Amino acid sequence: MQVARKSPEAVDFEDVAALANADMDAVDRLISRSLESDVALVSQVSEYIVMSGGKRLRPLIVLLAARALGYGGEQHVRAAAIIEFIHTATLLHDDVVDSSERRRGKESANTVFGNPASVLVGDFLYSRSFQMMVDIGDIRVMQILADATNTIAAGEVQQLMNIHDPDTTENDYRQIIYRKTARLFEAGAQIAAVLARRDAADEAAMIEYGRRLGTAFQLVDDALDYSACADELGKNLGDDLAEGKATLPLIHAMRKGSDAQRELIRSAILDGGLTQMDRIQTVIRETGALEYTAAKAREAVDAAIASLGGIPDSEYRSALVSLAEFSIRRRS
Ligand code: IPE
Ligand code: IPE
Ligand code: MG
Ligand code: MG
Ligand code: MG
Repeated sequence: MQVARKSPEAVDFEDVAALANADMDAVDRLISRSLESDVALVSQVSEYIVMSGGKRLRPLIVLLAARALGYGGEQHVRAAAIIEFIHTATLLHDDVVDSSERRRGKESANTVFGNPASVLVGDFLYSRSFQMMVDIGDIRVMQILADATNTIAAGEVQQLMNIHDPDTTENDYRQIIYRKTARLFEAGAQIAAVLARRDAADEAAMIEYGRRLGTAFQLVDDALDYSACADELGKNLGDDLAEGKATLPLIHAMRKGSDAQRELIRSAILDGGLTQMDRIQTVIRETGALEYTAAKAREAVDAAIASLGGIPDSEYRSALVSLAEFSIRRRS
């Protein structure tokens, strides 16, 4: 199976990815093999989403981090595939929960196959990832991944509890994005350190790198939901507003807007739907909400890069820096 890898616009992302090309080919082969099932719908749905590409950012972090830390073995390939499986499972579930109709430039799996198939194949991918963890045979790796997967689920539930709540604070929001998104980046980077048998300081540095990068990544995602070109993004815009999600652009716009502007956003969050999108875009523009969100992403990326300070210089370390930069420049 030939897996399409989506290349985000930046040329240097290609250069960074090229460094890990051989490893990533091995990841793709393992992913293909691991999707096999004698239940036709399982293969059909899982291949549908996996073949439509994706940036492969999380496995790339695992591969580059492992090499940056001097790892010479093969298990990082398996770890990277596992992280991508967990990510893909969350996407299948997430699009059901968010009623999202597009993903990776195509109709989402739930649009094509329905919600039940998406949820169940998401479960298949999760449980397959557990089988692959056992194959690694390292109890610490299992512990990190089990904890991360559990945290992601809790984060998605926490977000569900916060929908239609215009009083969601920036702190609530930060906790949610840590759990649902940054935690998996963190786990991937940490596992690289564990596999490479690095000391506690290097492991802590990688945890910090993953956490900060993942935070920036979700901040940017939440800004792109209001500002991207939908074709480039490969997803529909406005999915967050449609579901009444108080992401940082809206939280900031409510803080800085006039009473009337605040009321407009409050009621849009309470009701959901896209009928007020144009007026809300105006408030977002007038309050500098996307610039504020971008500034927070910048802070997170700077912290991610700073956390690599003690990692020996190498082309792999430079690639990790470039990846962090890419995460805020990206348009898809
Ligand atoms: C989408 O992640 C989910 C978020 C955490 C925002 P990606 O933007 O990495 O999705 P793919 O894998 O490239 O499609
Ligand atoms: C990321 O949040 C979801 C997961 C971590 C599963 P979003 O719901 O914003 O992701 P997209 O925008 O649908 O990719
Ligand atoms: Mg979503
Ligand atoms: Mg979501
Ligand atoms: Mg989003």
